[in-house]
Amino acid sequence: MFDRIPIRIKFTAMTMIILTVCCLGLTVFTNMSAKRMSINIAESTIPAASINQHDNQAVEIPGITMTPSVDAVDNQVRAEQERLLKQYYISSVGYMLVIIIIGGVAAYYFSGKGLTSLKELNKKMKNSSVATLSEELPVPPSNDEIAELTESFNKMKHQLNDSFIFQQQFSANVAHELRTPLTVLNTKLEVFKRKNPEMDETSEVLVTDLTKQVARLIDMGEKLLQLTNDYTSEEYSSIIASDLFESIASDLKDRLMDKEIQLTLPTESHVIEGDLDLLYQAFYNLLENSIKYNKQQGIISIVTTESADETVVNIKDTGCGIPKSQREDVFKTLYRVDEARNRDASVGGSGLGLAIVKKIIDKHQGQIKLLDNIDGTQGITVTVVLPKKKEA
Ligand SMILES: Nc1ncnc2c1ncn2[C@@H]1O[C@H](COP(=O)(O)OP(=O)(O)O)[C@@H](O)[C@H]1O
Ligand SMILES: [Mg+2]
Repeated sequence: MFDRIPIRIKFTAMTMIILTVCCLGLTVFTNMSAKRMSINIAESTIPAASINQHDNQAVEIPGITMTPSVDAVDNQVRAEQERLLKQYYISSVGYMLVIIIIGGVAAYYFSGKGLTSLKELNKKMKNSSVATLSEELPVPPSNDEIAELTESFNKMKHQLNDSFIFQQQFSANVAHELRTPLTVLNTKLEVFKRKNPEMDETSEVLVTDLTKQVARLIDMGEKLLQLTNDYTSEEYSSIIASDLFESIASDLKDRLMDKEIQLTLPTESHVIEGDLDLLYQAFYNLLENSIKYNKQQGIISIVTTESADETVVNIKDTGCGIPKSQREDVFKTLYRVDEARNRDASVGGSGLGLAIVKKIIDKHQGQIKLLDNIDGTQGITVTVVLPKKKEA
């Protein structure tokens, strides 16, 4: 609870507590000495009045007292003394409260000013992402803790960037090195199948399994290469969405036929602005998922809408859907929803597809959302929003 209170409030509260303790001590001390002083003054005044006690006999005229008695003078002085003391107590407590309030307001104001640079640094840190790892934050000219913190953050960014580049290169190299032996293996399996059309059942199962697993490894290698691509050479153009989906569907026609999927493509010629190769990869992965996680004889419909600022693509399927709690996680590398439902070799995958899609959509400054089907049917609708003009 205390940890959640902002530093500014903590600092103000601490200042007010310190001020209260100091002012309280000071007030008690001054009040005590004021009381002592007033007693001393009274003691030195009242006896003087008592010296002339005998001369001071009241001349009594019936009904009128001409001179007050010593006791009356004494009481009068004491009453006055108490009144003055009380006034002093009240005003000192008043001043104390005023000082504490002014101190608190000043502490709140100055701590706010002092924290401005920290807030600015925090904002810049929040805006840092993997894409900006190589950029340094400007170190303020002040020689204070904020400058030191900025330098430490820049140092950390450097180290992260180095290990990120190393990891990217390592994955790309591994994927690249595996490509050739896997392709050779795949070709050899194909040749073996062709040369031995009449295999016994065990061999046939073995060869089929091997072919599937090799195909899966090849796909994984390709995806790893796509994911480690830093997309520096992208070329923006205006793409007709219906043409793009037609060519993706044609590349996936075997899988569509295997599952007897009924696919509806966009009918209108809406335009998407972006890099053709990258958007092809992104939408290929999305359509591949809609087929892979769909039921036999399922339905996929792709609908596009266009406005002056953006183009929206909705890919709706009748598959198993993605639980709401995992709709953010599926964009992470190697994340697969439920290993049990993917264990079947025919549904093999790498958990890299949606990570690639997200990276490409982010690169186009677009958004991707996974939503329930609007008509309440089983499955998922993937909505991709792509802006018309890429911001500089
Ligand atoms: N259209 C979809 N319907 C149901 N589940 C999906 C769909 N698309 C993705 N998923 C789930 O999200 C996970 C991550 O997808 P992806 O990154 O493409 O990896 P992969 O398809 O290689 O497993 C998949 O394992 C799957 O469980
Ligand atoms: Mg996939």
